Amino acid sequence: MSLENKSLVTIDDLSNGEIMALFSLADGMSANMKEQHGLCQGKIMASLFFEPSTRTRLSFEAAMQRLGGSVITVSDIGATSLSKGESIADMARVVGGYADIIVIRHPWEGAARVMADYAGIPVINAGDGGHQHPTQTLCDLYTIQKERHTIKGLKIALWGDLKYGRTIHSLIFALAKFGADILFCPSPGLEVPQHVIDKLITEYGGDLEKLGSLDQTAKDNLFPLDAIYTTPSSPHQLAMMPDISVQIELKEGVDALYVTRPQKERFDAGEEGRDFKEKYPVVDKKLLKGRVFRKTLVMHPLPRVDELAYEVDADERSMYFKQATRGIPVRMALLSFLLGARGLDVPEVDSPPPVDYPVYRHDISPVCPNPKCVSIQATEIKYLKPEFKIVKTRPLTLRCVYCEHGFEPKYVASTDWHEGKLDTKKYHDADSHWARTIRPENLIVFNKAEEAQAHGFKPSHYTGGHH
Ligand code: NCD
Repeated sequence: MSLENKSLVTIDDLSNGEIMALFSLADGMSANMKEQHGLCQGKIMASLFFEPSTRTRLSFEAAMQRLGGSVITVSDIGATSLSKGESIADMARVVGGYADIIVIRHPWEGAARVMADYAGIPVINAGDGGHQHPTQTLCDLYTIQKERHTIKGLKIALWGDLKYGRTIHSLIFALAKFGADILFCPSPGLEVPQHVIDKLITEYGGDLEKLGSLDQTAKDNLFPLDAIYTTPSSPHQLAMMPDISVQIELKEGVDALYVTRPQKERFDAGEEGRDFKEKYPVVDKKLLKGRVFRKTLVMHPLPRVDELAYEVDADERSMYFKQATRGIPVRMALLSFLLGARGLDVPEVDSPPPVDYPVYRHDISPVCPNPKCVSIQATEIKYLKPEFKIVKTRPLTLRCVYCEHGFEPKYVASTDWHEGKLDTKKYHDADSHWARTIRPENLIVFNKAEEAQAHGFKPSHYTGGHH
């Protein structure tokens, strides 16, 4: 098998078997670092970083050089033609002609997808806004796998900014893919976005229980638990009594505590002034004295700010510098797969089957409501057609293929209105019985009544148009 010419935009782009194959190659490479020099000789990696980075960029560049390849780089958005209004697609086609592989970090969600669609060479997403950061996730998983020799059945707590943390979003899906249980410990106000939860439940199965009433347990354990995701591979008999099941669960301890900093650069206007620090529990020696943390791996993608005390560094449970160091063999393995320098032996491991949703791609289309989505930016809207997956029908829910945000459109119509299915060109409430009679391939959706009217559709109660 080969991953040659594939891109890594979200963590779903790799199956569990491919991830395991990557880990065994990374093991081999870290044991023989000096011998990898010939693997990617003559290949060029373009690293395009339009947001700050230390670890990700340096480790990608070091990885490529250790493979004998070379690196061309751009790190200041002001020094590129993007500042002159060049689109990502144009830049992709140009850089695609200069290099053999692209690594991109960009503030717009879905930017790496667009790059991959137009570059003609493999593209690796090194972080696109608050969306995903799949290679950080590979380093995180690799660390868990090395320390615990499995991921399945582990209890992993995610701590801090679960709303904007892109490393969190990729990690959630990866943990679910491998059958771990996830404990959500968000800083209040920075809970996991609904579209991430929806995808978690519909695509990976399992249950999510909100634990509003866990005050006492929370206090006893100094553990601000908000929700728990239980994987379908480890059914919990006590799931009907969440408080009890969680207390029993937690007795065995937490396998890893994944701490993140508040992603202040992504806060919206209302969040900027708020002091999350006060309610943002610091992971320190005192907290880690709790019974549940006896054998816990303390992880962090770094950089840390105030949420993880320096006094933890000397503790043998701390893993964050190991995570960063392991970025080199993991990224070396990934680059050699995508450049076709190594084929892979995929071990037999279960992977949840991909879910095929109907696609909404229509001349009449709402735009993605996420202001950070690549598809609505002035330079990109000129050529990118909005595209969505119809992920749910009750309530009707669309998911943007670029940023993966979901939304529930207010009104619907059908392209089928000529065939007499709907007797005039009318639009209807998305939750009306009409909406359910429209086949996905005929569906037209609107966020506002004015949009429908602008396209010549009449309200459903309109009767003047009969003939
Ligand atoms: C993370 C990122 O950029 O999302 N950093 C990293 O790549 N290790 C985490 C962060 O910035 O908080």
